[in-house]
Amino acid sequence: MNKSEAKKRIQKLRREIAKLRYEYHVENKADVTDDVYDSLTRELNDLTAKYPEFVDRNAGENRVAGKPLDKFVKVRHKVRMLSLNDVFSEEDLSLWDQRVKKLTNRKEIEYFCEAKLDGLAASLIYINGKFVRGATRGDGFIGEDITENLKTIHSIPLSLKPPYPVYLEVRGEAVMSKATLLKLNKQNQKTGQPLFANTRNAAAGSLRQLDPNLAAKRNLDFFAYDIVDINGGKKLETHSEKHQYLRELGFQVDQNEAKSSSLAEVMAFTNKFKKIRDKFQYGIDGIVVSVDNLDLQQTLGVVGKAPRYMAAFKYPAERATTVVKDVRVNVGRTGVLTPLAIFEPTLVAGSMVSKATLHNMDQIERLDLRIGDTVVIEKAGDVIPKVVQVLAGMRTGRERKVKVPSACPECGSRVEKRIGGTFRDHNSSPAPLSVAYYCTNPKCPAKDERYLEHFVSAFDIYELGPKILRRFKDEGLITDAADIFVLSKEDIALLPRFGEKSAENIVAEIKSKKKVPLSKFLWALGILHVGEETARDLAENFGTLDMIMKANQEEINAIENIGPAVSESTYEFFRNKDNLRFLEKLKQNGVIVDKAEKRKAGKLTGMSFVLTGTLSGMSREIAKEKILSLGGKVAGSVSKTRSYVVAGADPGSKLTTAQKLGVRVLSEDEFLKMLS
Ligand code: IVH
Repeated sequence: MNKSEAKKRIQKLRREIAKLRYEYHVENKADVTDDVYDSLTRELNDLTAKYPEFVDRNAGENRVAGKPLDKFVKVRHKVRMLSLNDVFSEEDLSLWDQRVKKLTNRKEIEYFCEAKLDGLAASLIYINGKFVRGATRGDGFIGEDITENLKTIHSIPLSLKPPYPVYLEVRGEAVMSKATLLKLNKQNQKTGQPLFANTRNAAAGSLRQLDPNLAAKRNLDFFAYDIVDINGGKKLETHSEKHQYLRELGFQVDQNEAKSSSLAEVMAFTNKFKKIRDKFQYGIDGIVVSVDNLDLQQTLGVVGKAPRYMAAFKYPAERATTVVKDVRVNVGRTGVLTPLAIFEPTLVAGSMVSKATLHNMDQIERLDLRIGDTVVIEKAGDVIPKVVQVLAGMRTGRERKVKVPSACPECGSRVEKRIGGTFRDHNSSPAPLSVAYYCTNPKCPAKDERYLEHFVSAFDIYELGPKILRRFKDEGLITDAADIFVLSKEDIALLPRFGEKSAENIVAEIKSKKKVPLSKFLWALGILHVGEETARDLAENFGTLDMIMKANQEEINAIENIGPAVSESTYEFFRNKDNLRFLEKLKQNGVIVDKAEKRKAGKLTGMSFVLTGTLSGMSREIAKEKILSLGGKVAGSVSKTRSYVVAGADPGSKLTTAQKLGVRVLSEDEFLKMLS
């Protein structure tokens, strides 16, 4: 065979092998025999060994890259990766449906239902039909490049079936089957390795490690569910068309889907699926319900982290019983003592549960929970399991009461009872008024540790995990979060078990993270009640750290979405001497806080609008949001200073006033043109 014949043969072999793989992995056709497949692959490998010029890094036979990576590279998503709002009941779903109808001015909406697979979300980019990059969600804006690991998943096409678009970004879920998890856990048990709690953790764990060879062994699968960016290719008008197109391009899309023209049909789908859910090959934690029409999706838009046009219907929590073996007490970032119940491991809602938070000591009293008790635990989807009931009838008399520790379990300092204070961890919502016990030592090492962990995660310093942070602290390398930024390679390399290379990686990463967006910086500070989203609101509104530091309580309170609790704690935070000293130290140590973009300026900046009458394409609320998002203002009454009055059907007296005052009147069509 000469070179040009070899080239042709290689192409043919690749195509045939890809076809067999697709039939086997996506279409689940059993009639593909391994022997044929192996034999073709062998011939292909022999040929590419002989003619290395035809080796193609992105070809099917190179799914497994061979070399482990040093670290994952961060990538910015062109289109933000959103989350979904959960609904837990038919009533909630009906409220959502009413809201969708109100916001779109429609009486009927076509919905689309599909299974919500429980795995790791991934975003895949294809250029000219070739898979070029795959990334994790990360914080929704920035994820990690896990291309090499994703390439090991056979149901991810490396080349799309023609005709394909020039550019395509696909979102989907990487999952592990329940059967694979069982096998993996059996193996891990034998070799004494930790077991995975559920298919989601196992899938995520497999893709978030650096060795593609390991990922390849995990037998993962991928289901596509959305197209978020496309250039060239088919014109798409509905979500269901996207699914169809994804299939045509060679992706695996779950078969369980249906269009529903009423809420009753949506419920019928969720009920039907509930019956097969347990037997389903993959973990499913609910049903995703979407408004099918893409124009309407646009109209509804996104609020916070989640689109308004989609909802995740979560199956009701599942309950199970187990025995409490022990109650341990942890110390959180704010110093609050949090009791943790330790159980005999038991399976609830698809996850092995061996512990559950009891929230606070008060809860133990309310439940009258004792060590040795048989309890009912509840778990809904990915929500942390909780103890909901004690089965007192199961007591033997040997149960032991749980004592409130009189001293902090970490530092031995006095513990203080506080009533009525709400507390908030960096990512949870405020707890209702309750009794809580706090460690009174402001320098409690546990508080510091939790704070450090939170701080580095807000700064995205991935190299510094909890264990390393603790070592650095124990060894005296750092006393607070600001010290992290002046660590040198030599400091770290001196510690036993730290090589030059890992010291270098750590220092390099810290250096690269010194410049931080204002929103992340505010979040990192751990201001009471200021979670990630609130931090973003503050940043967008004030623009600079200086402005926030100077703002008074009223000014903070005036921001949309921000209430008195946040404005008070934020204001107080920047009046505290220790905090100011810490901020100064961060600055001295080279931390640079980036200016946030001010609320968007757009093509409507400087213009003001008054809306009157009914718009046929969107509700007033949506119209208002669109104007604001383009930098314009919306006013309630007509005066000479307004730029435009937008008049829908049946306009009121505002139209006559506008005509009298000579304010320009726009029809709905003219208004839409202005927006687009
Ligand atoms: S739609 C707007 N469809 O659920 C972002 N998500 O809770 C949601 N998920 O991060 C995209 N199956 O990882 C969508 N059929 C499906 C899904 C699905 C699983 C995951 C996805 C997302 C999470 C949100």
